[in-house]
Amino acid sequence: MKLLHWWSLCATLSTVVGAPQSGVRPLVLWHGLGDSHSSPGMMDFAQRIQVIHPGLFVHSVYIEEDLAEDRKAGFYGNVNEQLEFVAAQIAEIPELQNGFDAIGLSQGGQFLRAYVERYNEPPIHNLITFGSQHMGVSDIPKCRAYDLLCLAARRVARSAAYTEWAQTNLVQAQYYRDPNNLETYLTANHFLPFINNEISEQRNETYAQNFASLNTLVLLIFEDDRTVVPKESAWFGSEQPAEDIKTDNSQIVFRPQRADNIIPMRSQPLYTEDWIGLRQLDERGAVVFDACNGEHMHMGDCWERIVRQYVGGPF
Ligand SMILES: *[C@@H]1O[C@H](CO)[C@@H](O)[C@H](O)[C@H]1NC(C)=O
Repeated sequence: MKLLHWWSLCATLSTVVGAPQSGVRPLVLWHGLGDSHSSPGMMDFAQRIQVIHPGLFVHSVYIEEDLAEDRKAGFYGNVNEQLEFVAAQIAEIPELQNGFDAIGLSQGGQFLRAYVERYNEPPIHNLITFGSQHMGVSDIPKCRAYDLLCLAARRVARSAAYTEWAQTNLVQAQYYRDPNNLETYLTANHFLPFINNEISEQRNETYAQNFASLNTLVLLIFEDDRTVVPKESAWFGSEQPAEDIKTDNSQIVFRPQRADNIIPMRSQPLYTEDWIGLRQLDERGAVVFDACNGEHMHMGDCWERIVRQYVGGPF
């Protein structure tokens, strides 16, 4: 990771659209797993947003300048360090200093939420997450065929997710949350239990205050998501532990997870006891649940109405 001049990226994005517009909230994007800050897909996404909001200033978060290295940093790295790096990056961009809206794609969504909780200087106004893993994953996300970088990282992460090495080097391991072994998750995971304020002795009130200060939180799920397990993590859902599944005569049995065994957001202790300010947001009517048809990150045009409504408003 090295700090590169922010304008080199902004220049890349703004060459197509001309001068940034003032008086309008700028936008920060955090790409998903397997992507990079200025891949053709991300450039295209930014440009389409700028067609809707002409002149909008868009910054695409990077860990590495080099696109291949940036893509790799989505698999390999220490999330807490990456976040610190991104917070410093955002703090240096003059256009963002009065605050901004943010769109997190897949894992970029929970990382932007962590930015809000831990840093939020400058603050995020509307946070929009697409298919993110807010309650973690109970399996490491599947890879595309022949994606060797992904397959190698996944193989190690699945076999040794809670080892010290994985927790400082494998990004996906840092949001792996095994519902059947929450105790190990709470003690061994370096990232998710902290930003979810799940460790009672270590709860950080600032995280809740910052998160509750969002104007709107928009949570999008992909209805046919077969990559993220469970897909409901996008809506702060998680799988029930297998031991808790009871048969009709209340015998406790151990059986494989089914998709309908999901603890929804409003039943999570994180929500009911409001560890992160999510309940405050929800009771204020500031949490929007929405869905895209299709498999993980098959955005189609479902992002358009969201971008029209929640991005590029006036300060
Ligand atoms: C809580 O989080 C804030 C913001 O990241 C940080 O400044 C503070 O040191 C944390 N408090 C504790 C007790 O860790």
